[in-house]
Amino acid sequence: MGEFELINERRAINFFDNTKKIDKELLSKVIKLANTAPSSMNLQPWELIVVESMEYKEILKKYAFGQPKVTEASAVFIVVADPEGLENNIEKTIESYIELGYMKSEQAEHNRKNAFGLYKDKYSETRKFFAIKNTSFFAMNLMISARVYGLETHPMDGFNEEKIKIKFKIDEHKKIPLIIAIGYPKPGLQLLPRAYRKPEEEFVKYF
Ligand SMILES: Cc1cc2nc3c(=O)[nH]c(=O)nc-3n(C[C@H](O)[C@H](O)[C@H](O)COP(=O)(O)O)c2cc1C
Repeated sequence: MGEFELINERRAINFFDNTKKIDKELLSKVIKLANTAPSSMNLQPWELIVVESMEYKEILKKYAFGQPKVTEASAVFIVVADPEGLENNIEKTIESYIELGYMKSEQAEHNRKNAFGLYKDKYSETRKFFAIKNTSFFAMNLMISARVYGLETHPMDGFNEEKIKIKFKIDEHKKIPLIIAIGYPKPGLQLLPRAYRKPEEEFVKYF
């Protein structure tokens, strides 16, 4: 598959082959590739919960307003955005920057100050946006990476975030920007043509 098809033929797949599982190694490849997503100061404020068992997919389906793809897909990703990704990851990213020659150790404190200055207190609105913004790039990368390895996906916003957080033991300060069903399309599945997309002149401005 060429780069063009990889993106242009990605669709939100409503019907999955419910007889297929995804091999653990394959799933791990998808996740590793997606994890190359860019993030501010390389802070990677995301976590991923992979729901594979029918027992937990059934629970998730209930919290996702009964959407059948939740149980039909081989797995469902709960994509988690962590506002405390800054505190949790900054030292490792600075260490790696120093080791790889991006910065000198004398610059580390300046980097820390910049990061905390920009992203404020860990319970601030700014911090929530920071976490969700960066995690969304990771989520998009998950959907493209899935296609690289012959899998399809469906992003979902229709779910009860609070109930999912309680059941899957996700800290109350974290956010779930979306969940993503992943698997193989149902054999013989015919997709409707891609729906309306805004014409470029409606949303692009050049200065
Ligand atoms: C953040 C997000 C949330 C979505 N939530 C749902 C959902 O809960 N249920 C659903 O059936 N589709 C959901 N969709 C899928 C969209 O409806 C779909 O991507 C859109 O109609 C365009 O179709 P396409 O992806 O096939 O081009 C969601 C998509 C995104 C990006």
